[in-house]
Amino acid sequence: MSKPAASSANLMESIVSLAKRRGFVFQSSEIYGGYNGFFDFGPLGIELKKNIRDCWWDDMVRRRDDVVGIETSIIMHPKVWQASGHVGGFTDPLVDCKVSKQRFRADQLFFAAVIVGGETKGYVSALESADTAGELQTAAELMKRKQAIQGELAPIVMQEFTEATPEQIPLIPSPATGDPGSLTPPRDFNMMFETNVGALRDGSSLSYLRPETAQGMFVDFKPVVDTTRVKLPFGIAQIGKSFRNEITPRNFIFRSREFEQMEMEYFIHEDADWESAHKEWIQWCWDWLLSIGLPADLLSLCDHEKAKLAFYSRGTTDIMFKYPFGVQELWGIAARGNYDLTQHGEASGKTQEIFDEATKKKFIPHVIEPAVGVDRIFLAVLCAAYEEEEITDDKGKTETRTVLHLSPRIAPVKVAVLPLLKNKEELTTRAKTLYKKLQRRFAAYYDEAGAIGRRYRRQDEIGTPYCVTIDFETIEGEGDTFTLRERDTMAQKRVTEPELFALLDEQVY
Ligand code: GAP
Repeated sequence: MSKPAASSANLMESIVSLAKRRGFVFQSSEIYGGYNGFFDFGPLGIELKKNIRDCWWDDMVRRRDDVVGIETSIIMHPKVWQASGHVGGFTDPLVDCKVSKQRFRADQLFFAAVIVGGETKGYVSALESADTAGELQTAAELMKRKQAIQGELAPIVMQEFTEATPEQIPLIPSPATGDPGSLTPPRDFNMMFETNVGALRDGSSLSYLRPETAQGMFVDFKPVVDTTRVKLPFGIAQIGKSFRNEITPRNFIFRSREFEQMEMEYFIHEDADWESAHKEWIQWCWDWLLSIGLPADLLSLCDHEKAKLAFYSRGTTDIMFKYPFGVQELWGIAARGNYDLTQHGEASGKTQEIFDEATKKKFIPHVIEPAVGVDRIFLAVLCAAYEEEEITDDKGKTETRTVLHLSPRIAPVKVAVLPLLKNKEELTTRAKTLYKKLQRRFAAYYDEAGAIGRRYRRQDEIGTPYCVTIDFETIEGEGDTFTLRERDTMAQKRVTEPELFALLDEQVY
């Protein structure tokens, strides 16, 4: 029987605690107190991450005839970032609290007027959360009670801090102190990390860590066209690290300062039906998320408002995931027109046009861009997979089983091999032989320490879909069979070695 869902905050705490306890994710530089916005992936975490990447690469690149892969450098010529518009405009609106010295993103800070009897009595504020409107409502009721304001509170109208007027700003309380008067008006903050390349440390050596992998695909568009046999429509894909000096990294690995992206630029003819191509890629991304085990009921689509799109963008749709801290962007699928190739053509003086045999005209292709963060998928799969289940054993004793219902495609360990007893050589020898054989093809784990029930629980907690127990029937019975125990149902059955390999082959790829 499953427990009712824990509260969102508790669920997040449990996931962070499991991630640390079992070696999925550690805070970076923890012995020095940690470094905000940076994380390390432990032995199990790196396997999970690698499996997510490999699944994407297999499905996006290897199994498609129209997409090729590349890997470009993290530090590119600074002119790339001038032409792409990042140097001038890759900014987030920053608000300072002059008293606490804390900084907030103005688009993640919300406020509301407290209106009683048609008169504004003050303002309340809250940072974006799973229930920002609820927090503002509670704060408004508290203010009314504390100040003994008589009359009926008008319904709260939530506004982003970016919309605050100069008259309102001094009256809005800082979320850090609870008092008004310390918040500054929003100002643009460029999120690119700067560095210097070469021996000189002056303006001429100024360079940047890339804030997205996408520009690599635009800058290498011509070399790829010239060296491969790609024909429109075709895509160029890349997986790699990106860096953003986020004002408020938060929600564990959801928004960090160093993260990994999986992006693909799909180039189409300038006259192609971009809306159909856009829709097809949204569907592809959705189906891919289901294929790695994310349930459809935690996913949704969000179309960006046309009025808020960048001028070159024709449309953007995000696939959203219901994280414990709210519904948030997981994967953005943008129709970017031909802005990037045009910009690089103009800035470099090297045209990015290609020749169209059919019309005998030259043109710059347009692009559809599905862009997703590995770390956001990692967190989404942990959140969707985590369950605390109450189970009752044969003797009527109940206990809580923590289990990660990870898809076998991405589970860090696919199969654990467990000899029933540690001190019976026939059992351990047979188990080790099987383990060594499995290890050549699958991520396998050997464990002989402790009671068999406890060993099953240890595997449940890290999401291992199958455990194989080598017991007395294996060595004494007919047919060299093992007990196969399935994680989700806990059902057990006997299988032979070929049956075990066939099952793993089918489930893992
Ligand atoms: N080339 C387009 C681009 O980079 P984006 O929406 O800024 O678009 C794409 O980023 C994806 O990268 C996001 O949907 C998210 O999954 C991931 N991402 C962006 N910023 C991130 C951060 N600070 N931490 C973790 N993942 C991030």
